Amino acid sequence: MNIELGEIYNENCLETMQRMPDGFIDMTLTSPPYDDLREYNGYHFPVEEISVELYRVTADGGVVVWVVGDRTVNGDETLTSFKHAFAFREAGFKVHDTMIYAKNNPIPSDCGKRYRQCFEYMFCFSKGQPKTFNPLTMPIKQEKAFKSFRITSVGRNDLAHDHVAPKERKLNNIFFYNVGTSSSRDKIAFGHPAIFPEKLAEDQITTWTNDGDIVYDPFMGSGTTAKAALLLGRQWLGSEISSEYVDIAETRIAAYLDEPKIAAVK
Ligand SMILES: C[S@@+](CC[C@H](N)C(=O)[O-])C[C@H]1O[C@@H](n2cnc3c(N)ncnc32)[C@H](O)[C@@H]1O
Repeated sequence: MNIELGEIYNENCLETMQRMPDGFIDMTLTSPPYDDLREYNGYHFPVEEISVELYRVTADGGVVVWVVGDRTVNGDETLTSFKHAFAFREAGFKVHDTMIYAKNNPIPSDCGKRYRQCFEYMFCFSKGQPKTFNPLTMPIKQEKAFKSFRITSVGRNDLAHDHVAPKERKLNNIFFYNVGTSSSRDKIAFGHPAIFPEKLAEDQITTWTNDGDIVYDPFMGSGTTAKAALLLGRQWLGSEISSEYVDIAETRIAAYLDEPKIAAVK
């Protein structure tokens, strides 16, 4: 097998995947170049081929978290994100969950007769049923007056039952993050024009993988996925077609190689 973990391959991700055996990857977390939003040094990508290859290299029960949005062209949204979702379904994946990455502080812009654009999709595609799910949770705030109430398995308040009300619940599937300079403390990462927040990567990797699982990012950019995977004790590898961005990512990650691992990021 001509593929190593802990590496960012400076090449088209299709070439990297071609060297992987079937079922090699537990989770892919990535944000592809879409709608020519930025030039990315002139590179483009074919989503149909990439989704088919991702299906082959994903383990049974593995997931692909695909972070993508749409551009508005001549007053019309491209719906590229949905084209991608259909391509992944066509390749064999289930559309397990359509999550939203909402931006607390979106870049101010004049959106004409539209509200300010403040989100991207985080499609979670799965190869069969996900084999791992470590849900992030939040405390349930209960009104004082209801604190002594019991909740039945069907959710009804009823003092006659002794089922204790749960203290926490799974998060909703809209995740909110700061973007821009507060999304990473690594100045070097901002040499890349389109990073996603480190916390997003931590949350997704925590949810869908366990210690030692293999996480892949086919569009590694500044190395956000690699950094989060490394700090969470996962194995990782990536592809990035631009040598300039590979340099940024490698320098960024090198600073964390000796850092203690994060047990759980909530
Ligand atoms: C949206 S950026 C990813 C940013 C990354 N999530 C981060 O936090 O830094 C997409 C990246 O894909 C790279 N890219 C574009 N086409 C590619 C291909 N076919 N194979 C590998 N990388 C590619 C671009 O150079 C760009 O850095």
